[in-house]
Amino acid sequence: MCGIVAYLGKKAAQPILIEGLKRLEYRGYDSAGVGLIQGGDIKIIKSSGRISVLEEMLDEPNSGDVLGIGHTRWATHGEPNTANAHPHLDYTGKIAVVHNGIIENYNTLKTWLISKDCKFKSDTDTEVIANLIGYLYSNTEGKDSPSDGQNRFEWAVQHALNELVGTYGLAVVCADFPDMLIGAKKGSPLILGLGDNEFVIASDASAIVEHTTQAIYLADNEMVTASSKGFHTKTIDNIEIHKELKQIEFSLDAIELNGFSHYMLKEICEQPKALKMCLGGRLDLRDGRIVLGGIGKYWREITRAKRVVINACGTAWHAGLIGEFLLEQLARINTETEYASEFRYRNPVIEDGTIVIAVSQSGETADTLAAIEQARERGATVLGIVNVVGSSIARSTDAGVYLRVGPEIGVASTKAFTAQVAVLAMLAIELGRRRHLSNESARFYIEELSKIPEKIEKVLAQSEDIKKIAEATCQRENWLFLGRGFNYPVALEGALKLKEISYIHAEGLPAAEMKHGPIALITDGMPAVFIATRCSQYEKIIGNIEEVRARGGKTIVVASEGDEDIKKYADHLITVPQVPEELQPMLTVIPLQILAYHAAVLRGHDVDKPRNLAKSVTVE
Ligand code: F6R
Repeated sequence: MCGIVAYLGKKAAQPILIEGLKRLEYRGYDSAGVGLIQGGDIKIIKSSGRISVLEEMLDEPNSGDVLGIGHTRWATHGEPNTANAHPHLDYTGKIAVVHNGIIENYNTLKTWLISKDCKFKSDTDTEVIANLIGYLYSNTEGKDSPSDGQNRFEWAVQHALNELVGTYGLAVVCADFPDMLIGAKKGSPLILGLGDNEFVIASDASAIVEHTTQAIYLADNEMVTASSKGFHTKTIDNIEIHKELKQIEFSLDAIELNGFSHYMLKEICEQPKALKMCLGGRLDLRDGRIVLGGIGKYWREITRAKRVVINACGTAWHAGLIGEFLLEQLARINTETEYASEFRYRNPVIEDGTIVIAVSQSGETADTLAAIEQARERGATVLGIVNVVGSSIARSTDAGVYLRVGPEIGVASTKAFTAQVAVLAMLAIELGRRRHLSNESARFYIEELSKIPEKIEKVLAQSEDIKKIAEATCQRENWLFLGRGFNYPVALEGALKLKEISYIHAEGLPAAEMKHGPIALITDGMPAVFIATRCSQYEKIIGNIEEVRARGGKTIVVASEGDEDIKKYADHLITVPQVPEELQPMLTVIPLQILAYHAAVLRGHDVDKPRNLAKSVTVE
């Protein structure tokens, strides 16, 4: 939800900002802009549309412009036009701000600023921040502001931040200080990269790693001021703080396309490697145990827990639902999966002995974060299953397990999903072993889990066949995805993948629910994707396939390798290697990801930047 990048150093800022914005474009892509400090002025260039549009508007970079800020937007307040694009200048033209987040009290502040003769040019909440800083910076008489201008700029930012209600990750520059960059964070991510006499502030590490791997992760209500003399960090209450220097853990290579046409395809194909990284060092095949270092100290509490509540959104919620089934089946613990956006606004019952698990790729999803706060306030121990190291959810949980799959850039989540399921499976097996799963069964599941990466390779090898299925079906505007048991959440995930990137209307359902209403939708030739692998409900789902075929539906069936009987029920057949049904989702989801990918490409869509979406949803 918006990407921000800012640079202060010895090099020309403009190309660094543009490269950084391209890395962050997955966070939002409806408008973009840069602001450069140029000889005592701030030059703003911004436009609606993608970064490529902005790039065409830029002059040759000037080597003397060494301070600048940039932004790529996912609109919240105000339509995605040029006026609403960031950076926003204050009414004096001295202060420029880029912002990711939402200022909830912007209307009140705007009314007050207008009463002070501050002029507004946009419909955004961000312009309020710029004008408030500008007002405080220029109207200091009688206030407790420092007398020297430099400190006054910092003072104005700090005091403005104290008036804001809502969330922000922001970078601010002032025309009077061509050597000073200020960043601040509350509720939206912000990282300060420390290079050789240079600073890069960005929403995530992908915009920094090209310049340095040394970084500081700001926490909420913290700000940083950087200049050629160095930098300092403090809270917005003006208390100096020391921040630990962290190493950015992924290489530039991890965020390049490396010959793939899209990040989504790269990330689908990376899944064998990603799962190996996720499982690596965690499966103790010799002793039949699972080692999850991040939650090591909590096993006693988890083992004694009476109930687990999983909180997540979207694809992570689908992984959570599979986790619910796994925890019930293998660990025999009462588990519920909640939409974080609903849980946070209810009055949930959290008794003693409840463990809450937050599942999130980005670790920044606002609803999931708020659900965690809600659960913690009510005394629950909260564990995180998160991909992005150091993200807000990773920091706000008591303990957790990282996915370790490297950056996921495609807006449609793929490798994070399979890794979320893998982590939940590890948790369920180990918890089961510590409760009442026999050692023999635990060992069996661990061995099967260790074979999943190579089995995914076999599914990926069918990509060209799946493309042909997409060619034959992608013109249809309505689809059904149906599965039962562990493959019911996979049906939901398959439908979501198709919807979000190919803009085809798709509904995912537990297959048996179809006859309670949705069966009325089936018309001649309507594609119905069935996940009908060999499992305890195999015979039942065959019955459901027959019901669809009897009404003229075209069946795309994901079946187990070697299942000859199912061929007669499938207009199109995709096979996956056989694994225990509890672990099947990690294989059965792969063809659905590939199908959605090819359908979207064939329909001419920008797979990595689907309309109206952004990668991490940091608004409610
Ligand atoms: C869909 C997708 C979203 C995310 C959801 C939660 O492909 O990516 O549904 O799963 O926005 O995001 P995280 O996992 O970052 O909390």
